[in-house]
Amino acid sequence: MSRKPVMAGNWKMYKTAAETTSFFEKFRPLVERSEHCEIVICPPFPNLPAAAAAAKDTRVAVGAQNMFWAKEGAFTGEVSASMLKSIGCSHVIIGHSERRQYFGETNETVLKKTLAALDAGLTPIVCVGETLEDREAGQTESVLIDHCQGGTSGLSAEQFSKILIAYEPVWAIGTGKTATPEIAADAHRVIRGAFSQPAANSLRILYGGSVKPDNIKGLMAQPEIDGALVGGASLDPISFASIVNF
Ligand code: PGA
Repeated sequence: MSRKPVMAGNWKMYKTAAETTSFFEKFRPLVERSEHCEIVICPPFPNLPAAAAAAKDTRVAVGAQNMFWAKEGAFTGEVSASMLKSIGCSHVIIGHSERRQYFGETNETVLKKTLAALDAGLTPIVCVGETLEDREAGQTESVLIDHCQGGTSGLSAEQFSKILIAYEPVWAIGTGKTATPEIAADAHRVIRGAFSQPAANSLRILYGGSVKPDNIKGLMAQPEIDGALVGGASLDPISFASIVNF
């Protein structure tokens, strides 16, 4: 089963619009021929139009880092999937651990957002992952199964075939502690096994958590790992290009 890798950059709350444009100027030529994978960059909301303009007619797709599930309405401060679609986004990160930790997101909100994203024609990148506490308590498998099943329950086979999953162990995010390729591959097997969908074998599961140019090769050597969701190392065009071109 060959699954085309996806390399996604999560910029979190970094960069201005001008910095976004200058990132793309440097990044574009470095990935012009990177046909072996799909590339997605997820800047903060205000920089999405600048990113979409800079990515036009390139192989780079643009995604948001969050969205709300309603189509429109009195939801001050929120942004809908169709608004993202209308400004050129094709992807959206859903349920990142920072959203779960600081903004009260749960499997229920993840599922509502995933369904709304699919409905608007966006590709959801659904994030799952255990905390250090979960891992030390021997709960990694049950947390992953709970995140996967809770965040995607009731998806039709067609909807399921359009999602991406990102496995991001919370203890590896922004800490410089990457999961070893073996630990990541074990988790990816648990995740794939958590879905009873016939298309589970084609599901692409990205690894995220302190991915850097010097550890991407080892991670991608694991057949279970289908790409990466990269935070800090995606902010620099040379560093993210060398991850893309692992
Ligand atoms: P990091 O972040 O690469 O900086 O660890 C990954 C993420 O949170 O998506």
